[in-house]
Amino acid sequence: MSDIQPVSHALGVLSEILRREKSRGKTHLAIAEASEKTLTEMPVNFMIAAQNSQAGAVSVSSAPEKTADVQRNEEWARKELNAIFKEVKTCEVCRSLGTLRDSVVFATGNPMADLMFVGEAPGAEEEKERKPFVGPAGQKLTQIIKAMGLSREEVYISNIVKFRPKKGDGRFQGSSNRKPDSTEMEACIRFIRKEIEVVAPKVIVALGATAAEGLLERGGAISSLREQRHEFAGVPVFVTYHPSFLLRQESEPNAEKARASKRKVWEDMLKVMEHIGMPVSEKQRGFFS
Ligand code: URA
Repeated sequence: MSDIQPVSHALGVLSEILRREKSRGKTHLAIAEASEKTLTEMPVNFMIAAQNSQAGAVSVSSAPEKTADVQRNEEWARKELNAIFKEVKTCEVCRSLGTLRDSVVFATGNPMADLMFVGEAPGAEEEKERKPFVGPAGQKLTQIIKAMGLSREEVYISNIVKFRPKKGDGRFQGSSNRKPDSTEMEACIRFIRKEIEVVAPKVIVALGATAAEGLLERGGAISSLREQRHEFAGVPVFVTYHPSFLLRQESEPNAEKARASKRKVWEDMLKVMEHIGMPVSEKQRGFFS
């Protein structure tokens, strides 16, 4: 590494590489003598993180470590996020896939939010406005956020993949969208990891199975994922249905089914509010009773 970088950054990069190798089934890695020397000479908080991690893999640097390293304030967070945005714009790996469109759709909201929503990838509307969740699914998400007594400006909203996935060669795709695949998510995952490190939310909400799979590196039905406890980079992750799923159900004749799914999402949000320590009014608690 030629540039001088904060230790937390190095830790993030290294943990990303190790995590990827581990998910590919690697159990051992050769380390060059010079690299080993550099690692062992790194400051003590780096080594503690390494020792605390499972099975000898370096753990992902979590928000509290970051807090200790730097003076966190909104100005700092904006600057850091801006730097990540610039990195996304020049992401060679993302471009080299050839399956993602050109425009970057980064994130929106409070750079120091307690609550972070993470979706899968932008769609046509998002690409047009260069903002996540501004199309129909975004309007549904806004309703959910408002029902929690919050505004979009108070939370942080982002996606794992920062470019709209191409359909075919992307030339004639009009408004049709597709989910990102695992390669595309893998190419972009380091960005959301860095965003989490900067924003340091108390809770992450993964919207839908694809976002959950990208963050948690495990598939599965939302019905079971939402019942389990998860973590990403040391931050609790709550999995819930994607707002598009709610919209699809609303457009179908079975109103009871649609209401049941909305109720589940709302139950998840009540858990999130409780976890953050937000007050929950009687009205909020009784929305679906
Ligand atoms: N769906 C997502 O997952 N993200 C968006 O930004 C819009 C729709």
